[in-house]
Amino acid sequence: MNRSTTRFLSTLAVASSLLAAPVAFAQDRTLRDGVYTEAQAKAGETVYESTCKNCHDMKFYENTLRAWNSQPLLYLWETVMGTMPADNPGSMMFEEYTDVLAYILSQNGFPAGDAPLDHNQGMESISIVAP
Ligand code: HEC
Repeated sequence: MNRSTTRFLSTLAVASSLLAAPVAFAQDRTLRDGVYTEAQAKAGETVYESTCKNCHDMKFYENTLRAWNSQPLLYLWETVMGTMPADNPGSMMFEEYTDVLAYILSQNGFPAGDAPLDHNQGMESISIVAP
């Protein structure tokens, strides 16, 4: 093995350990455990209709949740908050991002619960699972 191959392989090892890191988080709950409230989903529907629906349909979110399987929900929230809506990223209130996520979960068969989804707390310990 020459030197550049060795360097390539060690870079690869670092990269794959970084990729694997989120999965190693302590995750107590999954999307099946009622992680948002009905009220949030209802508020999120309004946001979805006005700001998200034009560019993706619900099938897109189903595929997204599948692709994010076992990742912390907080990472998806952060990604959506930082990149969406694609024509004006980060333009919504934090609560609106949280509400729209609740609505998306409600439309993909995940149950509502008693405690609201809170982007300030606890979302790193909720695992995404495929719908
Ligand atoms: C102007 C068009 C547009 C609007 C409006 C828009 N999106 Fe997107 N969205 C995109 C594009 C383009 C991508 C990336 C390409 C793809 O995967 O199809 C994307 C990707 C995503 C992803 C996948 C992210 C990932 O890394 O897996 C999510 C989730 C998402 N959008 C949610 C939303 C939500 C929620 C809203 C409403 C607040 C929204 N989008 C509004 C165009 C849009």
